[in-house]
This record gives sequence, C-alpha cells and structure tokens, in this order.
Amino acid sequence: MTVYAPLYTLHLLAALIWVGGMFFAWMILRPAAVEVLDAPARLRLWLNVFKRFFVWVWAAVLVLPVTGMGMLHAGYGGFDGAPRYVHIMMGLYLVMLALFLRIQALQLPELRRAVEAEDWPAGGQVLGRIRRVVGSNLSIGMALIALVAMRPSF
Ligand code: HEM
Repeated sequence: MTVYAPLYTLHLLAALIWVGGMFFAWMILRPAAVEVLDAPARLRLWLNVFKRFFVWVWAAVLVLPVTGMGMLHAGYGGFDGAPRYVHIMMGLYLVMLALFLRIQALQLPELRRAVEAEDWPAGGQVLGRIRRVVGSNLSIGMALIALVAMRPSF
C-alpha cells in the first residue's frame, strides 16, 4: 500500500462528513424541526446542532487540504502536473471555507445572542440567513464531488 491510499481514504471521509452533514441538516432536520418544534425550541436546537457539527466541519476543513496536497504531490508530482479538475477543487474549497467561516465567525454569534436574549424574531432571521449560506455550500460541495467523480479530461 502506498501513502496515496490512506490519504485518499481520509480525504473521502472528510468530504463525506462535511457535505453529508450539510445534506442531512438541510434536507431532513430543517423541515422536520419546522414541522414539530415551535420557534424557541427550534432555535435552541439549531444552536446546539451547529455547536456539535462545526467541530467535525473544522476537522474536515483541516484534513481536506492536507490530504489533498499530499495526493497532489504523491500522485501528480505537484500543482502543475495535476488535472484541471483538481485545480477547480482547490478553488471551490476556498469558496466553501469562506462560506463556512462566515457562518462560524459572524452568523453563529448573532444566533447565540438572539437565543440568549430570547429574541425569537431576530433569531429566526439569522437562522434564515444561515440556511441560505448552508444551501449554497451544500450545492457547491455536491457539484464539486460530481465534477471530481467524473474526472473530466479537459
Ligand atoms: C485544498 C483542497 C483540496 C485539494 C488539494 C484536493 C485534492 C484532491 C486530489 C489530488 C484528489 C485525487 C484526484 C484523482 O484521483 O485524480 C482528490 C479527490 C477527491 N476530492 Fe479533493 N481536494 C481538495 C478539496 C476537496 C473538497 C473541499 C472536497 C469535497 C467537499 C473534495 C472531495 C474530493 C473527492 C470526493 C475526491 C475523490 C474523487 C474520486 O476519486 O472519484 N476535495 N482531491
């Protein structure tokens, strides 16, 4: 077994956790929470969910570039030798990272403040904005995975 196989495995697991977690949050938990919980309970639930999920997102955010760079060197001899889709993957990683950091650094503290103040309308507004950013990140992540899985030869 070369060094490539464990790097590839970790890379895939990190992508799976990040994108799969967003898929579950957006497609399953969000509509279920709207149906079952009133605003205060829903906002408290999301605050708790983000706190737990973001620990794993941070792990994925670190593991993806480290393993990706390792594969880049082990498999393609560096950035210049890599196919175009790998370059696109790196670019989209930066976009996904920026969107994640926006939630983590700006929107999550806003949500926490609204929940602590029991200001449910304000909390609902922040949650709506977080939902849109997560929706964008989920779409980018799924498009990225589809692109890389097809390994286009352009
Ligand atoms: C700096 C960031 C990244 C680098 C340097 C990087 C690099 C790489 C490399 C070199 C490969 C192997 C390509 C091949 O076998 O031809 C790969 C595969 C893959 N990457 Fe990334 N990657 C990065 C970010 C991401 C992100 C953010 C995701 C998804 C959220 C992702 C998902 C995948 C997947 C699913 C594969 C496997 C595709 C397949 O074998 O079918 N990567 N990556």
